[in-house]
Amino acid sequence: MVKICCIGAGYVGGPTMAVIALKCPSIEVAVVDISVSRINAWNSDELPIYEPGLDEVVKQCRGKNLFFSTNVEKHVSEADIIFVSVNTPTKTRGLGAGKAADLTYWESAARMIADVSKSDKIVVEKSTVPVKTAEAIEKILSHNSKGIKYQILSNPEFLAEGTAIEDLFKPDRVLIGGRDTPGGQKAIHALRDVYAHWVPQDRIICTNLWSAELSKLAANAFLAQRISSVNAMSALCEATGANVTQVSHAVGRDTRIGPKFLNASVGFGGSCFQKDILNLVYICECNGLTEVANYWKQVIKVNDYQKSRFVNRVVSSMFNTVSGKKIAILGFAFKKDTGDTRETPAIDVCKGLLGDKANLSIYDPQVTMDQIQKDLSMNKFDWDHPIHLQPMSPTTVKQVSVAWDAYEAAKDAHGLCILTEWDEFRALDYQKIFNSLQKPAFVFDGRNIVDVKKLREIGFIVYSIGKPLDSWLKDIPAMA
Ligand code: NAD
Ligand code: UDX
Repeated sequence: MVKICCIGAGYVGGPTMAVIALKCPSIEVAVVDISVSRINAWNSDELPIYEPGLDEVVKQCRGKNLFFSTNVEKHVSEADIIFVSVNTPTKTRGLGAGKAADLTYWESAARMIADVSKSDKIVVEKSTVPVKTAEAIEKILSHNSKGIKYQILSNPEFLAEGTAIEDLFKPDRVLIGGRDTPGGQKAIHALRDVYAHWVPQDRIICTNLWSAELSKLAANAFLAQRISSVNAMSALCEATGANVTQVSHAVGRDTRIGPKFLNASVGFGGSCFQKDILNLVYICECNGLTEVANYWKQVIKVNDYQKSRFVNRVVSSMFNTVSGKKIAILGFAFKKDTGDTRETPAIDVCKGLLGDKANLSIYDPQVTMDQIQKDLSMNKFDWDHPIHLQPMSPTTVKQVSVAWDAYEAAKDAHGLCILTEWDEFRALDYQKIFNSLQKPAFVFDGRNIVDVKKLREIGFIVYSIGKPLDSWLKDIPAMA
């Protein structure tokens, strides 16, 4: 029986390995982590992450050929193939701080593999890493090898949260990069055989190591760039009376462009886009490619602009002050169908409003009060370091309360900000909400999910990203 071990039981390691176990009953899969609470949760009825379809997959395999354990060394030493799916956050200090990837967790995993291995291993980079990381890992392993042979493969993950199981069942492609040597090619075949249990051969792309590593950063940069492009257009739409939804539709009908990923929003969030683009920028700078670095930097700048533009709209619409006013925040996760708040635009928007002394009442169907408090009291880039996977920090932000539902959040508020596109927010009784709001009653839709016409008929003053402005808002001077 082939044995797989995955180091890192997070958003990628957990679902990816659960699907491998489901699709390959002949393979034994162990997922290991240094976080005891995470592993306990994976072994319980309350999985540590919310992901549609994940519970069913885990229930079918757990205890049969899928195991979650903190006994990292035992499972690593027994495995034939080791996936490394640890976090690769942005460095917070030292050389490259604020841009470069922090490979501390990756390096410590590699050193541990070298320490405990007693047989040849295929080591698979599942984490998103800077191009050429495989070379560094090879060096660590070969200098500590005790005669053991290691093959390093790059097999980046392209799943998106909220649709992870669907994406893993039917990936657009699986990418495997390896050395162009007999040993490298043999390792590529071994990993290809795993995926071939359910992924058609023509969707498995094999490349050299550096192409695979770089393709992951490139794919995320291209995706994020589409969102910044449409968000940049949304600002121009507001200035000119065009409607960004109509523009996106018209642009996306060009088959060369395509319709996906053209929804204007309050900004992209999530643990990947910003981190990976900053990493790409740093790699470009290190290679002397200043113009290329500046090109990609702009994607982040427009995203930051979009978030601050939204905050400015809220404050300027409400007579230029939200001090002491209750504002309801609907949605805190970075997108619907996940409880993940990493780099969610809601953090920047809430911090912006708190900076203007607003009182916030926040509701999200999947995010806890503890998580919201932690996110709003944490420094930029600190979120992806394991210490923050541990229980709450003692600081709480007093101007923030968390509501049980959207109606409670909205009661007596001056305005409503929609920051995540949860389906339930489309179906709310907005007349009921209007009745309980202070007047004039404002809705700021950061996800373009409300029926603007209907809400205006009810009596709301509505701002919806990139849509023709309410006459109320038109009279307010344009923002920087
Ligand atoms: P995560 O923080 O959810 O999980 C990482 C886990 O690794 C944590 O539970 C941590 O405790 C564990 N860990 C760290 N060092 C360890 C060690 N030495 N030994 C054992 N466990 C250790 O992160 P994630 O979202 O799963 O992302 C993991 C990697 O995958 C990152 O490089 C990320 O960029 C990439 N990625 C993420 C996504 C996504 O949607 N989240 C998608 C594609 C790729
Ligand atoms: C992303 C990539 O899609 C995935 O391939 C990669 O493996 C990890 O990073 P993820 O961050 O989980 O996945 O979600 P994604 O669906 O890409 O959304 C990212 C952010 O962009 C969210 O905040 C989302 O709301 C926003 N978004 C997405 C938009 O604002 N507009 C869009 O049209 C699409």
